[in-house]
Amino acid sequence: MTYKVNINGEVRELDVPEDMPLLWALRNELNMVGTKFGCGKALCGACTVHVDGVAQRSCSLPVGSIGADSKVTTIEALEKTEIGRALQQAWLEEDVMQCGYCQAGQLMNASALLARNPKPSASQIDSAMAGNICRCACYTRIRDAIAVVAEKGTANV
Ligand code: FES
Ligand code: FES
Repeated sequence: MTYKVNINGEVRELDVPEDMPLLWALRNELNMVGTKFGCGKALCGACTVHVDGVAQRSCSLPVGSIGADSKVTTIEALEKTEIGRALQQAWLEEDVMQCGYCQAGQLMNASALLARNPKPSASQIDSAMAGNICRCACYTRIRDAIAVVAEKGTANV
């Protein structure tokens, strides 16, 4: 079946089974490989994208369940927003990354957090980011980078 899905502001046609996970469609059908496969079971957060601004795990989101009016945002479009650019800058300043594998998911989850709560407390950051696993254990620097953006108020723009 053919589905029309708005991805990063562009309507894309996907001729795939309705139960194909969005992650498969992004990576294998559209060659958008910024979104990562980790566990495939909604446990690690590596595959996080936004659907209508809400962080979702694309490995467990069937293409057929995405509404025609819904807007999917992936890591490829993160730099289009003030929050996204501020987070990318803070990530570099705080030297967050090690292997980098989890980082697309971390940034997508962090940007959804700051969009709904521009000034999260440390515990709110920890709570919101708890489901994003980092095998390199960059958790402290991830939290610091999010706090930098919150403190600067960039997320209010
Ligand atoms: S790959 Fe989707 S949560 Fe792990
Ligand atoms: S930076 Fe390596 S998994 Fe997070």
